[in-house]
Amino acid sequence: MGNFVVLISNRGSNLEAMCNAGLIGCISCVISNNPNAMGLEFAKTSGVTTKIIDNKNYISREVFDEELSKTIDLFSPQLIVLAGFMRILSSGFVNKYKNKIINIHPSLLPSFVGANAQKQAFNTRVKVTGATAHYVTDRLDHGPIIAQGIIPVTQHLSPESLASEILRLEHTMYPFVIKKILTGDVEINTDNSVTTQKHDGDNIQLGEFFNYIFY
Ligand code: GRF
Repeated sequence: MGNFVVLISNRGSNLEAMCNAGLIGCISCVISNNPNAMGLEFAKTSGVTTKIIDNKNYISREVFDEELSKTIDLFSPQLIVLAGFMRILSSGFVNKYKNKIINIHPSLLPSFVGANAQKQAFNTRVKVTGATAHYVTDRLDHGPIIAQGIIPVTQHLSPESLASEILRLEHTMYPFVIKKILTGDVEINTDNSVTTQKHDGDNIQLGEFFNYIFY
């Protein structure tokens, strides 16, 4: 399998899930824009290379992104994985790495883009929500969708428990998506739709809540 870099800003629970899913050997570097990100501690104690590029030290988004790009290129990654990276990337950056950057968002895109997607879904009283893994383009939370996982919003859920159900789903879905990309099973078509090679057991039903759909 190829290698990838992970970009984080805070907690890093998805990073942890990737490591627990057997992907630790494929992670070339964890990069954080926040020197105090908890995920950095986890990476260090797990023996993963870390880099800090503190955005406060850069005069503009473009200058920060240039430094980020230089750092990423040191590792020649097959994939750039955003996992709670709380910065909008400039279009220059995104276009340089076309079809190489992925993100996970805590809603069924294109619904509930931007911050607090779980709360937006809860307050809208939708009956199902979930998480979406997608390629990153210069339109926020709108790139080609790779996979979605579904969480029914049952009556007993609070905004907090809904958010943790979605996060639990992310932790199984995102590593699965990364593995599929690294093994060449995910293809972006000319119309920007995604086709995934499916193998037996891919569309996993986990307990009564989790269900993935690969595009
Ligand atoms: C997750 O909710 C993910 O959907 C969003 O950022 C959060 C990252 O959490 N993109 P963590 O840092 O991986 O714990």
